[in-house]
Amino acid sequence: MKILVIQGPNLNILGHRDPRIYGPMTLEQIHKNMQEFGKQNKTDIDFFQSNFEGEIIDKIQEAIGGEYQGIIINPGAYSHTSIAIADAIASCGVPVVEVHLSNILAREEFRRVSYTGAVSAGVISGFGAFGYHLALISILQIISEVEAIKEAQKKQMQANNA
Ligand code: DQA
Repeated sequence: MKILVIQGPNLNILGHRDPRIYGPMTLEQIHKNMQEFGKQNKTDIDFFQSNFEGEIIDKIQEAIGGEYQGIIINPGAYSHTSIAIADAIASCGVPVVEVHLSNILAREEFRRVSYTGAVSAGVISGFGAFGYHLALISILQIISEVEAIKEAQKKQMQANNA
């Protein structure tokens, strides 16, 4: 099992950036915790952070090749503006869980819309760094459900062809 974690603009400065809103943890600490939980659940995790919209789109498109079974993404402010990232998510072919450290529904009006969240399997928002842990649990659950459906469909086809 392999998951891709994508972190959008300004998340590389977590820990320094407005800790009252985004918490005290650095991105490195968050990723270390995810890595540990991944290991316990036999899941490899690749981490990627970029402040550039096109690089984030390129990375999402890597999932089309079949290397990853799911994506966890915090698109940062691009959540509220980027139709291009939303389009990439919608066509990447694997389940995507969106994370926000802050509760975007409780903040400024322009943050209350997430184009990327609208095309994701689900959105976890407002639980701080713990949200990434919740996202990992969620994506593993979604992937196992998808696998179970695929397996059932395969059996059904084999039964139909027998
Ligand atoms: C954020 C929320 C966005 O509105 C903001 O622009 C961010 C971080 C969050 O994790 O709470 O960069 O995605």
